[in-house]
Amino acid sequence: ETIEWDPEQAGKGEYDHFMLKEIHEQPTALTQALEGRIDPENERIALSDLDPETFTDVESVQLIACGTSYHAALYGSLALNQAGIQSTALLANEYSVSAPPTDDDTLVIAVTQSGETADTLSALRQANAEGATTVTVTNVVGSTAAREADEAVFIRAGPEIGVAATKTFSSQAVMLTLLGQCIAAEQHGEPPADLGSLLPELATMPDMLDDLLVDSGADLIAEQYADSQSYFFIGRGLGFSVALEGALKFKEITYEHAEGFASGELKHGPLALVTPDTPVFAVFTGEEDEKTLKNAEEAQTRGAPVVAVCPDGHRAVDVADAHLEIPETEPALAGLLANVQLQLVSYYAADLLDRPIDKPRNLAKSVTVE
Ligand code: AGP
Repeated sequence: ETIEWDPEQAGKGEYDHFMLKEIHEQPTALTQALEGRIDPENERIALSDLDPETFTDVESVQLIACGTSYHAALYGSLALNQAGIQSTALLANEYSVSAPPTDDDTLVIAVTQSGETADTLSALRQANAEGATTVTVTNVVGSTAAREADEAVFIRAGPEIGVAATKTFSSQAVMLTLLGQCIAAEQHGEPPADLGSLLPELATMPDMLDDLLVDSGADLIAEQYADSQSYFFIGRGLGFSVALEGALKFKEITYEHAEGFASGELKHGPLALVTPDTPVFAVFTGEEDEKTLKNAEEAQTRGAPVVAVCPDGHRAVDVADAHLEIPETEPALAGLLANVQLQLVSYYAADLLDRPIDKPRNLAKSVTVE
């Protein structure tokens, strides 16, 4: 008797797809990312991967990346700005034509899961040639980015097989948040004031994610809105990068049209597209939520169903047509929890449509051409 053995299926364990497995691996990925790097009791961050001199003299930061890593870079850039560091996230494929000037005091951070994305490597090489200090935030030890940047910070997410990046986004965003706090401490000579509240919350992130993943309700929402024409994602601040990422994930694996907007931009054009057939996923991260709620209500008035991604008890729950719950936490981290809910909605919507979730058409896990 022979036993059929499919190594790919074996790799997925109890899950139907690598993507779902990797979404569920996020608590472990974050535990690994934070291991030995944060000390909430003493309000300390220790990034032993980095030369302690890396942040001396840093005056501004540029983050370069593509796709999902770019959304993590946007998240990180905002976290840096909020920590008082001048910072910009830039698409690596635009860098050669539109990069702001760099000098010895510029830190360039290349954010790349694979460490092999051609566009990102090309921008990294440009920054190296211009004399900037370069750091990569990557998942792959020994990758080209890790070898070519001055310094590398590894996110330790473990292998990601699904073409759709999931756990690596969360780990990148968390590592960039930590880097921001380190750079701010170096620049201002003392840790940022909110470090004392951020670190304990960060330490509980894996548990919060575990709770969320037990019964997210995302499958029901995916089912409820499965026949829509187009899907919108809105958010403000850190929630804006999550809206962009939610839309990218959705279009990438469902092949349905999806777009992410800054909540406040809806009324500057996109409202014209809104109909009862365009559900709006509104991400609430505790950053001027009343304004986002108003923007969502403007879409609702035009007939669009609104799905609020927010903690239970949030005012948006009463206003919205549906609710995706996230645990209550700091604004700096709420977006990451919301993003996991949106990953799940995309996954279940793609599954209903019977898409080849782990290998969407026309896409590669690592894009090694410019
Ligand atoms: C997103 O799901 C994609 N896999 C894609 O956007 C990806 O994030 C992008 O190609 C960048 O890849 P990298 O992180 O390996 O550089």
